[in-house]
Amino acid sequence: MTQQKNNTSFIRINDIEVAYTSAGLNDAETILFIHGFPLNKSMWIQQLEFFKRDFRVIAPDIRGHGETDEGKKPYSISLFAHDLIGFMDALQLEKVILCGLSMGGYITLNVAHRYPDRFSALILTDTSCKSDTPEAREKRMQTIMDIEQNGLEKYADESLKRLFAPDSLIYKTDETEAVRKMILSTTTTSIFSSLRALATREESCSKLSGINIPTLVITGQADIITPPEIAEWMHQQIPHSRIHILEEAGHMSNMENPEGFNEQLWMFLSTR
Ligand code: MLT
Repeated sequence: MTQQKNNTSFIRINDIEVAYTSAGLNDAETILFIHGFPLNKSMWIQQLEFFKRDFRVIAPDIRGHGETDEGKKPYSISLFAHDLIGFMDALQLEKVILCGLSMGGYITLNVAHRYPDRFSALILTDTSCKSDTPEAREKRMQTIMDIEQNGLEKYADESLKRLFAPDSLIYKTDETEAVRKMILSTTTTSIFSSLRALATREESCSKLSGINIPTLVITGQADIITPPEIAEWMHQQIPHSRIHILEEAGHMSNMENPEGFNEQLWMFLSTR
């Protein structure tokens, strides 16, 4: 059963209450937007606003993020993917356009391989098919210890420098502040469990050539977390995919250059 508080709806999926925002036309094709780590559904505000005129648009909070319950299970990309399919089933969304950024992209790749019939198009935003290197895994464990010692504020400030392009840090202060608030509103329990999930995720590069769904790969030109080279490589592997490297954007490309992002997504969706 769905409940509503302010603009957010809640629905029980597996062992948790999942929070989500929805807008747009009820009988139109649905775009489902999946946020990155450790963020929440509000990172998609400018896409919901733009695409609600022609689509049904829905942005859920992943387990332990935003207003969705943490649950008690250890996190993994497969668990997040299981929640996503449960969410689609509960809302009777037979087939959707799925747009995931970074960790949202890891989840998108996971479900696209396991449930290809449930998706009419994929948008892989600032993401990667690779698993963590041993060094990256080590760094995530170090991050857990750093947060335990120095707190979340320092982690949030350091994250912003990696998430945003240098120019965005100067000129997009509303956006950087919004992301800072998203990070600070996530509990450390959820951040630690998500870091372990990210560190242990499986690669999906070897399966890209089997994707038979229209796909747009889109990445910020100044993304240093999932750089344009990996986007180019994924595009070459995914049959009939398209690619766009977005100017004036780092890892948070949909927030840093929303006009450019929306235009590319719109062009892809209208000509796929
Ligand atoms: C994200 O934006 O979801 C994270 O940067 C993903 C990651 O750290 O691998």
